[in-house]
Amino acid sequence: MGMTRTIIKSVGGYLPERIMTNDELATMVDTSDEWITERTGIKQRHVAAEGEFTSDLALAAAKIALQRAELDASDIDLVIIGTTTPDLTFPSTACIVQAELGMTHGAAFDLQAACSGFLYGLAIADSFIISGAYKRILVIGAETLTRLMDFKDRNTCILFGDGAGAAIVEAGEGQGEMSDRGVLYSHLRSDGRYRDLLTATGGPSSTKTIGKIHMDGREVFKHGVTNISQAIFTALKETGFSCDDVDWFVPHQANGRILEGVARKVGMAREKVVVTVGQHANTSAASVPLALNDLYESGKLERDQLVLFEAMGGGFTWGSVLARW
Ligand code: UT7
Repeated sequence: MGMTRTIIKSVGGYLPERIMTNDELATMVDTSDEWITERTGIKQRHVAAEGEFTSDLALAAAKIALQRAELDASDIDLVIIGTTTPDLTFPSTACIVQAELGMTHGAAFDLQAACSGFLYGLAIADSFIISGAYKRILVIGAETLTRLMDFKDRNTCILFGDGAGAAIVEAGEGQGEMSDRGVLYSHLRSDGRYRDLLTATGGPSSTKTIGKIHMDGREVFKHGVTNISQAIFTALKETGFSCDDVDWFVPHQANGRILEGVARKVGMAREKVVVTVGQHANTSAASVPLALNDLYESGKLERDQLVLFEAMGGGFTWGSVLARW
């Protein structure tokens, strides 16, 4: 039976110009390129310039996505930005981007799901499109996470970087079959009991400061592999696909070892896993759309291919989205 599907029409990504290598970090804190590479797979991260804000990165990624879709801002009904590092406490970064795009219609909001922000945004956009509330939505993950980093804490400062990724999704016609193009399934989870394991130590209502990232790395690692694997198994079970049917696995880029652990646990062939953590580090909500953008720019992503997304972050929040390109 015919039904509306959420088609991912285009993607864009933006990384700040400045690159900080592991060697440079090792001049600031007691670590080494060897340790970071071996434990995380990270070789470098991008760092936003002074005066370059999350909205600037988001806007740059959005403009690329619009250009690739051959659309302009007047064609967009809604802007959703997943971010943990908004320009301001309020108004939302999405409202800033809406204005910078010259959009005077529609709506815009930020959502806070830490590293799962883009995935949550994609799932929400899918619901809005299926309900008929909006026709075309700009979903962005954008972060300046280095602003939350304590460059004296070697447990955290080696892991994160800045960047933004954007996707334009729009209503398309499907048959209600798993052979349809577009978002086929989404699964969102959270469990706030684990909120202290990965957190920023400040906030407007508590300390009135932004705080610094604090993390129990080993616990986050353990829960990461378990939760992400569970989200993947759920997506596959609910859609009747197996890992062999998936063409591309576009995961949140937290740690190369987590990606390997998950791929092993769910039985995903390594050549299907998009890995950008070495070049981007963990860009939180931006990491999934930036990885998708890398895949797109590689020229390997083809129409009708099955793409599995996952993310996991502070909260904990996690989830998966399965879509046909
Ligand atoms: O979106 C989710 C975000 N976060 C994550 O996904 C993070 C998940 N966790 C991880 O990626 C890993 O736990 C880390 C990379 C953070 C740490 O790796 P690990 O293999 O779990 O190391 P560890 O914390 O068990 O530490 C091992 C040793 C310790 O020394 P001792 O106690 O054995 O002497 C640490 O003090 O490594 C030391 N260490 C470091 N050494 C050099 C910790 N950080 C560093 C460092 N450089 N940067």
